[in-house]
Amino acid sequence: MTTAAHRTRFTDRTALVTGAGSGIGRTIARALAAEGANVVVVGRGREALDGTVALIEEAGGKALAVTADVSRAADVQAAVATTVDRFGSLDVAVNNAGVFRGGAPLADLSEEDWHTQLGINVTGVFLALQAEIHQMRTQPNGGAIVNIASTFGVHARHPGAAAYAATKAAVSVLTRGAALDHIRDGVRINAVSPGAVDTPMSLRPGETDSDRADRARTALPLGRVSTTHEVAAAVLYLASDDATSVVGTDLVVDSGATA
Ligand SMILES: NC(=O)c1ccc[n+]([C@@H]2O[C@H](COP(=O)([O-])OP(=O)(O)OC[C@H]3O[C@@H](n4cnc5c(N)ncnc54)[C@H](OP(=O)(O)O)[C@@H]3O)[C@@H](O)[C@H]2O)c1
Repeated sequence: MTTAAHRTRFTDRTALVTGAGSGIGRTIARALAAEGANVVVVGRGREALDGTVALIEEAGGKALAVTADVSRAADVQAAVATTVDRFGSLDVAVNNAGVFRGGAPLADLSEEDWHTQLGINVTGVFLALQAEIHQMRTQPNGGAIVNIASTFGVHARHPGAAAYAATKAAVSVLTRGAALDHIRDGVRINAVSPGAVDTPMSLRPGETDSDRADRARTALPLGRVSTTHEVAAAVLYLASDDATSVVGTDLVVDSGATA
């Protein structure tokens, strides 16, 4: 039987992953490289990106770090241009960069935190989609894009996260609209909405990993939070030729929280 470790669904393809210096994005980048992709890892922090490149190269893969702030159009366009200069095409893009500024009721959220989340989580995905689609629709084989939304958007309700939820709902809706607009251009666009994942972003203020595990045991149907590998597996499925007829979906990976 072919195991995930031996699949090669992305051989001779080039992938770009935003927010790839840590957490879910790093695991997605490593998983794509393990299946044969050349991976361009994008984020603001150079050191973190270099760490991801080192992990990919140690495992025998190919990767390139490109610093960019996804909320700036010029940065995102330059990242796509660098990808094509270096590897010749952009076949897969994963728009994963995102931030959570929450915990307070909406009335007490600062205007700065509102704009930061909107700028990165929504405008960042919009700008990345534009730059990626502009490239992919010129390619004979088009491309596949996966946006990382969240169950906090259209799928679930949580206090203290109204602004973040609004940004992630926007990602789910933007995904469907963009998917319809560009499937005939050969660009297939989908989203993955994770629930709580084992990265620091899902820790409540003051909570440790073990506190979160205790909370998940009772709060989540599966009894634990999702791993970054489980999210990456969903992303790779949607980005691969296993999903050639899957268009504009928003795949929930949430330990059963919204079942
Ligand atoms: N963890 C969860 O439970 C969970 C659940 C649902 C959805 N999500 C979503 O999953 C994605 C990844 O989350 P994570 O848990 O892996 O968190 P994370 O480790 O904080 O990853 C976010 C990444 O985005 C990058 N980033 C932030 N702002 C950026 C910008 N303006 N331009 C470029 N890169 C930027 C960060 O690197 P730099 O700061 O160096 O740029 C970081 O590497 C996010 O979109 C998040 O909303 C997470």
